[in-house]
Amino acid sequence: MDFLVARDDLHRCRFEDGAPLQPGPGQALLRVDAFGLTSNNITYAMFGVAMSYWDFFPAPEGWGRVPVWGFAEVTASEVPELESGTRVFGYLPPSSELLVAPAHVSASGFTDASAHRAALPGAYNRYAHTDADPLYEAEHEDEQMLLRPLFLTSYLIDDFLEDSDFFGAEMIVLSSASSKTSSALAFQLSLREGIAVVGLTSARSAEFARDLGVYDHVVSYDELDSLPDGRAVYVDMAGDAELRAAVHGHFGDELAHSAVVGATHHDRMGQVPDGLPGPRPTFFFAPDRVTKRAKDWGADGLQRRMADAWRPYVAWACSWLEVFHGHGPEALQSAYLDLLDGRIDPARADVLSL
Ligand SMILES: NC(=O)c1ccc[n+]([C@@H]2O[C@H](COP(=O)([O-])OP(=O)(O)OC[C@H]3O[C@@H](n4cnc5c(N)ncnc54)[C@H](OP(=O)(O)O)[C@@H]3O)[C@@H](O)[C@H]2O)c1
Repeated sequence: MDFLVARDDLHRCRFEDGAPLQPGPGQALLRVDAFGLTSNNITYAMFGVAMSYWDFFPAPEGWGRVPVWGFAEVTASEVPELESGTRVFGYLPPSSELLVAPAHVSASGFTDASAHRAALPGAYNRYAHTDADPLYEAEHEDEQMLLRPLFLTSYLIDDFLEDSDFFGAEMIVLSSASSKTSSALAFQLSLREGIAVVGLTSARSAEFARDLGVYDHVVSYDELDSLPDGRAVYVDMAGDAELRAAVHGHFGDELAHSAVVGATHHDRMGQVPDGLPGPRPTFFFAPDRVTKRAKDWGADGLQRRMADAWRPYVAWACSWLEVFHGHGPEALQSAYLDLLDGRIDPARADVLSL
């Protein structure tokens, strides 16, 4: 079964039951067990065409399968090195099954070498075997599905900022401070000396963001006059054009760098105007940074560093995140539509399965 979303109207969705899939030579069949759903997946759908997210998991003409992160089990394999029963973590469709063409099979995992994925970023094509994955802990599967890709991004932004000497800034300003990606970055930054972390959020989520305890200041979108002064870097998770103009306007030449990361406010995006004060916003794309650091540190070195940073982060996230489990088509569709329309309680998140 596949959950399908109309590419030209993300509110229109349906389920389709296809014939059971059979692996051909060189292929394996994955049974999708469960996956997490957060605003990140909505951003994949919003940028389905522009950033090729629809290309990972082909769907009938005009429809898309929104990529998710989760666990799956190999239920049939025509690849001698990959055994049935192997459990993996990776990028999956919101479906009950997925055919893959495993290549570079090793103890740690494999790459899906299906032709339609060849030109897509490598970080999304790798499947990690849970029994050899340094980040895997059986008791934290839910957190892994929900938070691992978001934490990875935050870890890499923190690393990028440090690598750039924080552009000489004394504070990092994050939008959508209540999002899991922003709070993960704030958590990483809070471990550093001499850098203040300022979170911008909606009035309804300001108390939640303050209670997280990782922001030095929390400022709501309707109180931007109270933003502190000083040399700053803006890390934009919201993608809100008016908010960006206000932040750039407030800091002006004191804004040392402006990184575009997310688009949680996808209904408030807009072109960057020519006269925007401060530096031109620059897109931060986590898979590109993975490629760079895997080259610098080796793939194993990157995994080891990530795993070391992941454990304290997960312990912290478990202190405030409430996970809900939904099963079946109705639960999936309603969780998806709630996220699409911004009906979000930042303290909770859904793990789903078909
Ligand atoms: N560039 C990359 O490589 C990369 C990698 C990972 C994630 N990201 C991006 O980071 C962003 C955050 O993802 P997440 O999964 O961490 O989000 P999340 O935890 O689901 O965050 C939800 C938050 O987004 C805001 N929001 C969501 N929908 C909204 C709506 N319709 N109207 C107004 N506010 C809305 C609210 O925050 P506030 O009230 O605080 O604004 C809400 O608390 C996504 O856009 C994602 O794609 C980018």
